[in-house]
Amino acid sequence: MIVLGISCYYHDGSAAIIRDGEIVAAAQEERFDREKYSPAFPIQAINFCLQQAGVTIYDVDEVAFYEKMYLKFERTIISHLIGWPFTFRNFLDTMPLWLKDRLAVSFAVEDELSFKKPVRYIKHHLSHAASAFLVSPFEEAAIMTVDGVGEYACATWGSGHGTRIDIRQEMHYPHSLGLLYSIFTAFLGFRVFTGEGKVMALAEFGEPDYLDKFRQIIDLRPDGSFRLDTRYFSFNKGETMHNKRFEELFGPPRPPGPDFTDRHYAIAASLQRMTEEIVLTMARHVHEQTGLNKLCLAGGVSLNVTANSRIREEGPFDDLFIQPAAGDAGAALGAASYVYHALSGRPRGPVMHSAALGPEYKDRAIEVLLRNSGARYRRLERDELLAETARRIADNQVVGWFQGRSEFGPRALGNRSILANPANPDMKDHLNRVVKHREPFRPFGASVLRERVGDYFEFDGDSPFMLLVARIRPDKLGSIPAVTHVNHTSRIQTVTPEHNGIYYDLIAEYYRQTGMPMVLNTSFNKKEPIVNTPDEALACFNDSGMDCLVMNQFLVERNDR
Ligand SMILES: [Fe+2]
Repeated sequence: MIVLGISCYYHDGSAAIIRDGEIVAAAQEERFDREKYSPAFPIQAINFCLQQAGVTIYDVDEVAFYEKMYLKFERTIISHLIGWPFTFRNFLDTMPLWLKDRLAVSFAVEDELSFKKPVRYIKHHLSHAASAFLVSPFEEAAIMTVDGVGEYACATWGSGHGTRIDIRQEMHYPHSLGLLYSIFTAFLGFRVFTGEGKVMALAEFGEPDYLDKFRQIIDLRPDGSFRLDTRYFSFNKGETMHNKRFEELFGPPRPPGPDFTDRHYAIAASLQRMTEEIVLTMARHVHEQTGLNKLCLAGGVSLNVTANSRIREEGPFDDLFIQPAAGDAGAALGAASYVYHALSGRPRGPVMHSAALGPEYKDRAIEVLLRNSGARYRRLERDELLAETARRIADNQVVGWFQGRSEFGPRALGNRSILANPANPDMKDHLNRVVKHREPFRPFGASVLRERVGDYFEFDGDSPFMLLVARIRPDKLGSIPAVTHVNHTSRIQTVTPEHNGIYYDLIAEYYRQTGMPMVLNTSFNKKEPIVNTPDEALACFNDSGMDCLVMNQFLVERNDR
């Protein structure tokens, strides 16, 4: 049986395909159309998935869509009616989108894909839940999904047993943690969807002095459910989601730009602390109600690494699985998994140990590109390539690293990464300024050998998708400044030979040469979506301050040095 999952029309359009229980391919449309968080109908991602599976659309048994759009439309209409006539402008802006695309998914599937059977619509949070539980290592687990909003639900919890998922409680719009985070992201002068991670980074620079004010607008209950005081917000009513009363409490919004005051740091810190408090309260309640010791997480809020880590460290669960594409991209995979396993009753497939589900490119294609573009390059044998790359990282060179299949989800995990020396105190600024062209306060993550993670971090366990942070051991403080955030933590990816192949071997070689069991790992991009193809990698390399580029077996030097 073959099931194709699709998400699109808001942000993070993506496709995933399951064949005989195995996730054969999954990719976001942004990697193909080069628009960050592209909401487009993911025709290129779908074509890639079909090609990777070696099938055509006529072989596909079911198409699964990641939400019930009629229910979502109903919620949209109701919230416009509640705020009428102040929602009029927003109504005029959004209705064409609904009529043109969102309500016409089945037509798009029929027209663009020539798929004639009825599409299966899976509730949004059920798609998120399935994206984590059904691909997790757990036969039985509690499940929590928290995001902006699906149809009505903004957060749910329940449990999974085998291939069955029971959602036991939903929290409904507008009482949404994801939405609240986005409202403050915009208030703090960042773009929604791209700015949430920046707010999280900013939070570590301040004290949570505004927590009392947050408690004024959020009523958090012992079961982790909460209500936003809607008198402070202007949902669908104007340019911003907050209103005058909100500004009386928090002050004026921050204009975009490089300047921050203590107030901005404090608001970000309080928002982050509140977020952690809510998910932790919810996790404790879910544990109490389900009596289960494992937890699966998905939904955009599960990209909040600090909140995840607090659940891991302070929460009641023994083990966690977090879907690497926790945002709406992963919901395409979830919808497909739900149809394949839960609705069709087929047994669970292999555990999702790796997010490497995108396209890969053969040596031959890369060599043709390098030759035609006049690049200076050498082909090296594997051992020589690893030794040379490790030596260059140790020598403080910034290395573009392009290997195997691209990653599904927002993180680069060693297949489309930029690598550097974590021990160099100048590397963070150098990368932010010269290579990535991004804000100086943003930290970098580390990829560390799984068996050596305890050497540097107060952490022993798995973090394969870089969705957890770890406190640096006091005796190692100062030894890895390029991956140390201001609060003495690092975002870490634990790397194993079973699931990371050549990337593990590179870090092992780096360890052999330097005694350091990790490298700095940041995504291979410069503001645009992470590179997908060798052409994009070469263009990004030529246009940035990277020192060399490794693509498969080829080491590429800069032409201008
Ligand atoms: Fe979502």
